[in-house]
Amino acid sequence: MSRIPVAILGPTGYTGLELIELILSHPTLSVGWLGSARENPPSIVAEFPRLAGRLAGMAPTMCAAIDHDAIAASCRLAFLCLPHEAAMHHAPALLARGVKVVDLSAAYRLKDPAVYAKAYGHAHTDGANLRHAVYGLPELAREQIRGASLVANPGCYPTAAALALVPLLRAGLIRPESIIVNAASGASGAGREAKPHLTMVEAGDNYSAYGIGNHRHQPEIEQTLRISGGAAGSRVLFVPHLLPIARGILETIYAEPITAATATSDVQAVFKSAYASEPFVVVRDEAPTLRDVQRTNMVHLNARVVGGRVILVAAEDNLTKGASGQAIQNANLMLGLPETAGLLAG
Ligand SMILES: NC(=O)c1ccc[n+]([C@@H]2O[C@H](COP(=O)([O-])OP(=O)(O)OC[C@H]3O[C@@H](n4cnc5c(N)ncnc54)[C@H](OP(=O)(O)O)[C@@H]3O)[C@@H](O)[C@H]2O)c1
Repeated sequence: MSRIPVAILGPTGYTGLELIELILSHPTLSVGWLGSARENPPSIVAEFPRLAGRLAGMAPTMCAAIDHDAIAASCRLAFLCLPHEAAMHHAPALLARGVKVVDLSAAYRLKDPAVYAKAYGHAHTDGANLRHAVYGLPELAREQIRGASLVANPGCYPTAAALALVPLLRAGLIRPESIIVNAASGASGAGREAKPHLTMVEAGDNYSAYGIGNHRHQPEIEQTLRISGGAAGSRVLFVPHLLPIARGILETIYAEPITAATATSDVQAVFKSAYASEPFVVVRDEAPTLRDVQRTNMVHLNARVVGGRVILVAAEDNLTKGASGQAIQNANLMLGLPETAGLLAG
């Protein structure tokens, strides 16, 4: 079977590298275009020597300038691993040429452009495509994703929070105004660009909260709980932390049950029923750890009731289920391939 070439714009970042790695073990996709905005597009092997000797027939070794016509001539789908504003520049040009787009940035995640502008500090410039973009959480919107030309790949923190909370809101088990999401991410969540607070001296052997009460993912989590959880009054207190490790997200989530009689078995039963046939969600009897999910596309969930509170623990890898793995899951659906293709190999 001939492979389907796809483009990666922004291949020199962490989500770009992760996509290349995933496509190398994908049964049907290959990389047709590595698009860089640098004046002299680099060799991807020079950027990431771990790719040396592994690309033959599966990806070019050199990045190329981003040429929308040439990409459309060779690729059916493009992954945008770019800053939000750059994604808003390239997505319309690719969509107009018939290329399907999976955007890993936040450019098309928030439905209301005013909420986007407030969270991201710049105006939304592509309202036309924002209106038809599908929020790409397959466990909640599989059929819409299959028919979409533009998928907004969810944020890393919102993916774990939504998968933990939506089934419980739908089942009417927790109070939507009572939710606290206490989350921690490895440093790759902030991207590859050098930042002083991410150096080993600052972040290593350390642990810190950031973005308390004003993190950009808070409105995204609330939007999903409203739209998919059906909880109009959802309010989330979201506190992210920086973990001194490379990759992984662990979220401990607290909520008040609607009835005092709610037991651990009730909450776990809702999880088990919601995710019985989901290939990438595992419901655990014990709280998961990051090691259980690193370098996999899985989300591990556990729920219990302690002292009258529902406590949920969700773990995922920010670069796979939180970004590039989920992007492949979405692309598989958009291209009519098996949803798990290329994602279950160990
Ligand atoms: N890291 C995560 O865990 C994660 C999770 C979910 C979503 N995301 C989102 O995914 C996107 C990519 O994240 P990342 O972590 O891969 O970022 P990154 O490591 O900083 O990489 C960004 C990529 O975009 C390129 N780029 C920067 N400015 C550009 C421009 N104006 N035009 C074209 N290319 C440009 C960079 O190229 P150069 O090498 O030339 O700078 C690089 O290839 C971001 O929007 C991020 O918010 C990230």
